[in-house]
Amino acid sequence: MTTQSPPPLRDRLGRPLRDLRVSVTDRCNFRCRYCMPREVFGADFQFLPRDQILSFEEITRVVAELHARGLRKLRLTGGEPLLRSGLPALVAMLRALPGLEIALTTNGSLLAAQAADLAAAGLDRVTVSLDSIDDAVFRAMNDAETPVAQVLAGIDAAAAAGLGPVKINAVVRRGVNDHTLVDLARHFHGSGHSVRFIEYMDVGASNGWRLDDVVPGAEILRRIDAALPLEPVEPAYRGEVARRWRYRDGGGEIGVITSVSQPFCGDCTRARLSAEGVLYTCLFATQGTDLRALLRGDDPDALRRRLEEVWSEREDRYSELRAAATPDLPEAGRKIEMSYIGG
Ligand code: GTP
Ligand code: 5AD
Ligand code: SF4
Ligand code: SF4
Repeated sequence: MTTQSPPPLRDRLGRPLRDLRVSVTDRCNFRCRYCMPREVFGADFQFLPRDQILSFEEITRVVAELHARGLRKLRLTGGEPLLRSGLPALVAMLRALPGLEIALTTNGSLLAAQAADLAAAGLDRVTVSLDSIDDAVFRAMNDAETPVAQVLAGIDAAAAAGLGPVKINAVVRRGVNDHTLVDLARHFHGSGHSVRFIEYMDVGASNGWRLDDVVPGAEILRRIDAALPLEPVEPAYRGEVARRWRYRDGGGEIGVITSVSQPFCGDCTRARLSAEGVLYTCLFATQGTDLRALLRGDDPDALRRRLEEVWSEREDRYSELRAAATPDLPEAGRKIEMSYIGG
């Protein structure tokens, strides 16, 4: 008799759970104004204490449980994930799950030192945040001491270690870095790496987001196309977050992530796990489900049952509701911060 694997989890809108983002720490060495403004995340801010953070074994248990139910993509995030010590050991533990793609999103400041160990442990690829190629503009966006050159060295080290081609994430804010977008595109044109321009989003409750700060994806594309002509590329997979474009001269491609102007909730197969073990079914959630208590409790089946319940009850589509400005937009409660839940 053969044992059949359980069916994939599906939510109320029929969406499977294919992609999990795991925040391994809520700390960061940057203070990006759109994510962790220093006024809020300053010296007095209470980060999570060590004993409340999931261990690598606990993270692996959650991932393995979801992997058995259809999970195929894992992204390690933070805060800044490279601040979590021993991260390659976690990658090696997750690598044992067959067919699971493992990616990492980082600000790149510590990547040059760690890329080779991460690759050796089995990491598949990295995404590096870089909002401008101009040092002064970079600092205005990220409020950090790190020079752009250090992030570029991280990208080079990742590529050399076999973690490329690297995706470069740039959040776009009108009047802050939008005048340097074409320079950023030019810098990576012909490099094999692709820049993805991200509409600034109203995640969290501390960045003072205003719609006027958003540069719509269509405008970003017009500006880049005027300097470096583009043509559209078919999506690589259903539910791809970035819309892709390639340079007509063969210099590679870019992506535009239009979660404000053209939301993509219909195909959203993503869940997020905070560093302390709270599972969220939407980036804009105000509430999640504590898995840590179950992981540390004594009922071996409790975790599996809870995961099934949470995903089967899911009906999140915040960005679509925001775009339609419908009255049932979930306003109650404070939205979780991006630094807590990871990109
Ligand atoms: P790959 O295609 O696997 O490389 O990943 P991805 O395109 O999902 O990219 P990544 O995880 O780097 O996400 C890029 C950015 O898109 C994030 O930093 C967010 O700003 C935004 N984003 C990602 N997932 C979501 C989502 O589920 N909802 C919304 N609204 N925005 C998202
Ligand atoms: N809007 C859009 N993207 C954001 N990120 C963080 N905060 C925001 C926001 N308000 C992205 C960063 C990084 C990832 C971790 O999340 O660019 O790539
Ligand atoms: Fe840190 Fe990333 Fe948030 Fe910037 S976006 S403050 S690098 S977690
Ligand atoms: Fe998914 Fe929520 Fe983002 Fe929509 S807003 S794409 S449901 S995470």
